[in-house]
Amino acid sequence: RKKIAIMTSGGDSPGMNAAVRACVRMAIHMGCDAYCVYEGYEGLVQGGDFIRKMEWHDVRGWLSEGGTLIGTARCMAFYERPGRLTAAKNMILEGIDALIICGGDGSLTGADKFRSEWPSLLEELVQKGELKEDQIEQYKHLNIVGLVGSIDNDLSGTDATIGCYSALARICYAVDLIEATASSHSRAFVIEVMGRHCGWLALMAGVATGADFIFIPEKPRGNNWREEMCGIVRQHRKRGKRKTIVIIAEGALDREGNKISSEMVKDLLADKNGLGLDTRITTLGHVQRGGTAVAYDRMLGTLQGVEAVKAVLEATPETPTCFIAITENKITRKPLMQAVLDTKEVAKAIERQDFEMAMSLRDAE
Ligand code: F6P
Repeated sequence: RKKIAIMTSGGDSPGMNAAVRACVRMAIHMGCDAYCVYEGYEGLVQGGDFIRKMEWHDVRGWLSEGGTLIGTARCMAFYERPGRLTAAKNMILEGIDALIICGGDGSLTGADKFRSEWPSLLEELVQKGELKEDQIEQYKHLNIVGLVGSIDNDLSGTDATIGCYSALARICYAVDLIEATASSHSRAFVIEVMGRHCGWLALMAGVATGADFIFIPEKPRGNNWREEMCGIVRQHRKRGKRKTIVIIAEGALDREGNKISSEMVKDLLADKNGLGLDTRITTLGHVQRGGTAVAYDRMLGTLQGVEAVKAVLEATPETPTCFIAITENKITRKPLMQAVLDTKEVAKAIERQDFEMAMSLRDAE
């Protein structure tokens, strides 16, 4: 019987539990044994109790749970070869040579490295006498498939990552709450959202809430960003708006690559010689990541989990490591490292120029 292990890695995201549930049940449905690796790569390095066999009922009720129930961690040991050597040994001892990883691009890149090193890791284990030749005979190739779990939606080649729509929904909800109090006091709010180096959450939240102005890393503002923002806010106020909402991505930059911070934006809005608005900063933080998944992320995690099991069973030593994407509403398989390369070249948020128009439907124009 084929043994397939599933793990979550990097920052948690809503919908990861749906993905794990789907992988476990699909693996069992396909006649395989399903395993969960607890605590991400740390669990692979630790082995033993961290790698647990799962039954159909073990994942009951997981669709409606937030976070990741099998835990996740950022594991330094796995960055080094000795850590990966121990991980390989632990997997062979359990009889596992197929792994599905749900995480961000960093975690998935680590997985690809692990896969390419696998034959040499096994050789080293035999040389060191930690495994016998006949123990590794049937585990010559490691099959790995990635599921993209991240609230940031920062990987090229897929329309959505598992978790991004839940975080977006949470941001919109929070902005709606803030708007009521902003309007009551005629205040301005600078709302900082997550996304690391990606502005997808900030851009989409700007469109979905009709924010007055947004800052995203993919569209670095020129030197005149101060005049630009103040001009728009002034115009909105003249039209009778009692509230000002500026959404800033945590990775926002200017054209010289300098960080534009929430404090800088707040000081500008509050400047007595300019707009002089009573201004507050709200950093939404980890409320964006926690909590239950919206329907879309449960659906995405489930459909992609099913596909990941099929992909890991069909993979050959020749096929490049793939990840499961959603493109034009279809679940597809794509080469992982190409997507990682493309992500570095093409900023995801500006692949979506149609949203420029949507943003310009605010009060000013
Ligand atoms: O990648 C997900 C994310 O939530 C980013 O948006 C954010 O920059 C980062 O993780 C926060 O990491 P941590 O939870 O380790 O503070």
